[in-house]
Amino acid sequence: MKIIEYKPTPQKKRAIRKIFKQSPEMFSKEDLEVIEKRLSEKSELDYKKYVAMDNNKILGFISYAQPWDTKTIWFLSWFAVDKYHQGKGIGTSLLKYIENQIRRSSSPRLYIETVSHDDKLTKNTRKFYKNQGYKRVGLIPHYYNNNVAKLIYYKDLSQ
Ligand SMILES: CC(C)(COP(=O)(O)OP(=O)(O)OC[C@H]1O[C@@H](n2cnc3c(N)ncnc32)[C@H](O)[C@@H]1OP(=O)(O)O)[C@@H](O)C(=O)NCCC(=O)NCCS
Repeated sequence: MKIIEYKPTPQKKRAIRKIFKQSPEMFSKEDLEVIEKRLSEKSELDYKKYVAMDNNKILGFISYAQPWDTKTIWFLSWFAVDKYHQGKGIGTSLLKYIENQIRRSSSPRLYIETVSHDDKLTKNTRKFYKNQGYKRVGLIPHYYNNNVAKLIYYKDLSQ
């Protein structure tokens, strides 16, 4: 498995779109529209985008950027691993890859937003972030709907 920078082609876009569609618990229809744009266009933020590839097949995607209003922290944007290849270390490799880049930057901090759903997939995602050393630093109640909050995780990468 290798990690390379994402460069848009119709084939790559299709493969990545398919991966995000596999997790409707995590990615809504509206999310998929934004992902679609992100895969095609340059946007106002300078998103760094990478794919995990094995035998010419895309098995995962990760991206991150610096918010427009700060120079001291980065946020994880879209991140997913092919459903049939989860739990094999690909997500860890992708996250470690961008953490190493961020560690070398002048603002070695990363935060992640995720959902507070109670299903198995999203619980596993929270477990994943916790195991990777992320601390839950925030919760915005009723963010996605009356029962689902936005959770914010944070890791200081200078330590
Ligand atoms: C979260 C995700 C990116 C992790 O990638 P991954 O390749 O499955 O993770 P790894 O194999 O590197 O790490 C496995 C660990 O992650 C956790 N994990 C999270 N989701 C998992 C899944 N669907 N299957 C298996 N393990 C999962 C397990 O706790 C496992 O730890 P363990 O080995 O102690 O059991 C991936 O599961 C995924 O795409 N999930 C759906 C989309 C998503 O939640 N994206 C993040 C949005 S904020």
